[in-house]
Amino acid sequence: MTTVTGTDVAQAARLLEQGAVVAIPTETVYGLAADAFNEEAVLTIFTVKQRPAFDPLIVHVRDRAQLDRVAVVPPQAEVLIDRFWPGPLTLVLPKRPAVPDLVTSGLDTVAVRMPAHTMTRALLDAVDTPLAAPSANPFGYVSPTTAGHVQDQLGGRIPYILDGGACAVGVESTILGWQQERWVLFRPGGAPVEAIEAVVGPLHVAADSARPQAPGMLESHYAPRKPVHVGDVDSLLRRFAGRAVGVISFRTEHAAHRCEVLSPEGDLAVAARHLFAVLRELDASDCQVIVAERFPEEGLGRAMNDRLRRAAARR
Ligand code: TXA
Ligand code: MG
Repeated sequence: MTTVTGTDVAQAARLLEQGAVVAIPTETVYGLAADAFNEEAVLTIFTVKQRPAFDPLIVHVRDRAQLDRVAVVPPQAEVLIDRFWPGPLTLVLPKRPAVPDLVTSGLDTVAVRMPAHTMTRALLDAVDTPLAAPSANPFGYVSPTTAGHVQDQLGGRIPYILDGGACAVGVESTILGWQQERWVLFRPGGAPVEAIEAVVGPLHVAADSARPQAPGMLESHYAPRKPVHVGDVDSLLRRFAGRAVGVISFRTEHAAHRCEVLSPEGDLAVAARHLFAVLRELDASDCQVIVAERFPEEGLGRAMNDRLRRAAARR
């Protein structure tokens, strides 16, 4: 199959209506989308991604009407929807029977979000159906933040990549679930926990487990192929002296085989925008080891630390 990359929203919509899967930009990361109500199309997502069927998908909606078609919205969700949608926040809510079990892996809940990316919003207008979409990477690998990343890994397996440029947020959405009358943080992400807590109070944090509530919680997720070590860069450089080390640094240069500085000004949002691209670059380079600095545990630093910790847990 030839994979075409382009900016033709109508073409992407036609393919989705025919039951194909199409890569789409969002403000967080690129997604691999299908009509959420077309089971066969959704099955293709799992095949293309080599994603296990126990890992449910996020449904992307255009508006309130589409949300109400897929989920039962508890009153407590209204304030989050008002404040954070469209944007990088996913809510896990009781599902409507019309949502295929394949989308939710048989759970009685569905993960929903309203993306902010203009092109994807235009696409949702054109197809007039919610789109089920996981991140557009092979299962377990780093999420793509450019159309080129998608082409590198899924080229030849999907017909079309809708190119919306580099993702503005750069890490996946924050996932919250409403359970036992409280909000539970399943995955830190693009919507900072502090901003959410300012609206709904302290979040309960889901513990990792063998069959996680959000399988993105699997320890060995978001991982490049090369070994990743996270911590204090200078001590890690001493530990790997004599090896070709690729450093991912927040704001300062380090003397190493390669060093990528994410934000010299020390802006966590800028760093998040570049993190996955840099991880890919170092993974593809001649570095033997990737060493990443631990970020301040605040704002988007929390999501970055989470992804790096999982990448490091691979081995
Ligand atoms: O920013 C994002 O969230 C991106 C863009 C494309 O929207 N999507 C994304 O999807 O990161 P994915 O599939 O890579 O991660 C979605 C996570 C998975 O870890 C999945 O387990 C969790 O959402 N999830 C989906 N449905 C769920 C449910 N009903 N209960 C708990 N977790 C769920
Ligand atoms: Mg993913």
